[in-house]
Amino acid sequence: MKLWAGRFQKETDKKVNDFNSSIGFDARLYREDIEGSIAHATMLGEVGIVTAEEAKQIVEGLQGILADIESGKVEFTVDAEDIHMNIETLLTERIGDTGKKLHTARSRNDQIALDMRSHLKKEVGEVIALIKKLEGVLYDKAQENMETIMPGYTHLQRAQPTTFAHYMMAYAQMFRRDVGRLQDTYKRMDEMPLGSGALATSTFPIDRQSVAKQLGYARVTENSMDSVADRDFVIEFASALSIIMMHLSRFSEEVILWCSNEFQFLDLDDAYSTGSSIMPQKKNPDVAELVRGKTGRVYGSLMTLLTMMKGLPLAYNKDMQEDKEAIFDAVDTVKLCLDVFADMFKTATVKQYNMRKAASGGFINATDCADYLVRKGIPFRDAYKIVGKLISYCIEHDEYLETLTLKDFCSICSEFDASVYDAIALRTCVNERKVEGGPSHDSVTKQMESLKKFLKTI
Ligand code: ARG
Repeated sequence: MKLWAGRFQKETDKKVNDFNSSIGFDARLYREDIEGSIAHATMLGEVGIVTAEEAKQIVEGLQGILADIESGKVEFTVDAEDIHMNIETLLTERIGDTGKKLHTARSRNDQIALDMRSHLKKEVGEVIALIKKLEGVLYDKAQENMETIMPGYTHLQRAQPTTFAHYMMAYAQMFRRDVGRLQDTYKRMDEMPLGSGALATSTFPIDRQSVAKQLGYARVTENSMDSVADRDFVIEFASALSIIMMHLSRFSEEVILWCSNEFQFLDLDDAYSTGSSIMPQKKNPDVAELVRGKTGRVYGSLMTLLTMMKGLPLAYNKDMQEDKEAIFDAVDTVKLCLDVFADMFKTATVKQYNMRKAASGGFINATDCADYLVRKGIPFRDAYKIVGKLISYCIEHDEYLETLTLKDFCSICSEFDASVYDAIALRTCVNERKVEGGPSHDSVTKQMESLKKFLKTI
């Protein structure tokens, strides 16, 4: 018999029964559901809606169910539809009629609004912990590569020299902002909806503050219709997760490029690479490719959620049950990707020599050569043109700026003297960029110190 069977004259169609049921995916909310019910029953006892003895019986019954679930003794059933009614049914089987009092002054609508918030609050914390792990890997790689000069790119063309440490700190900033977005999401999730009932609270004198306090919520929700009708906290989380995946995917793309024969900047550990079934020479960056590929799944979940909500009248609609598979899959995917990506990157070898070699060709010091002339009093636009001429001379004669003779330099501009070689040396190009945020040793050290400080706060 369904808990809601009262007004019905017929059994639910078998297909509808399966179609309607969410236990296949909301079973993962069992802990939050039971904790919420324990807090609710305790409060019912406190305000005298049930007796102290009944409250105690319900709480102990729920604790027993929790222990049974955790030791694998419970099998949920689609006939009880969802996690809420499965647990309520188990409770009544266990403690008898007192179990039927648990649902006083409560609806599954505020129950699911609570369970989802409680569950996702924990997940936010777990995602932050995994980002922290990745940030630690970035910090270590930066520390080992303070002097590793490499080309920085724009349009995937060699642009200006930087260091691998500077590069690592760029990604560290992105993931740091991701943590900020997750913390913001958490703050808005941290309000307790139980007591909203189906949509208009209850005629019983329930104490929502007590429930919020027991469950460790910062505050209670302010409007009961909003509490049960809204899923923007799920969407906000999915969008923060999508941005994390966007960052991870860009990073994966770089790893894939860097592992190619064309770049040869990075060598993945054998344990984090895969081979080809036909080409014996292949060592493929499958982990990075899968992370890049799985990004689409997470974006897909965000689109599912946004679209699911866009036409719903207030308050609860069953459409909202569809939020679970989308957000659970997004969270699982992001956690998996962060974890395996961090391990893969930690064990990868940075090919410092090849990075430096790539930075030595391609006129990566052209801006520095122009800056040199600016210091001699030539306006930047004129200096830019002079260096442009030098480069076209180099291309014609198969030279680089640093291999030109002083005579070659002076044939195009008489302001050059022997100090130009030092000015366009890669080490100078990097270390003269002392500006805050730049690639010089000191600037990167500051960025790393700031990261270290931040990591201590999360
Ligand atoms: N399984 C439902 C969900 O995930 C729980 C709430 C059901 N409420 C209802 N009135 N049918 O949204």
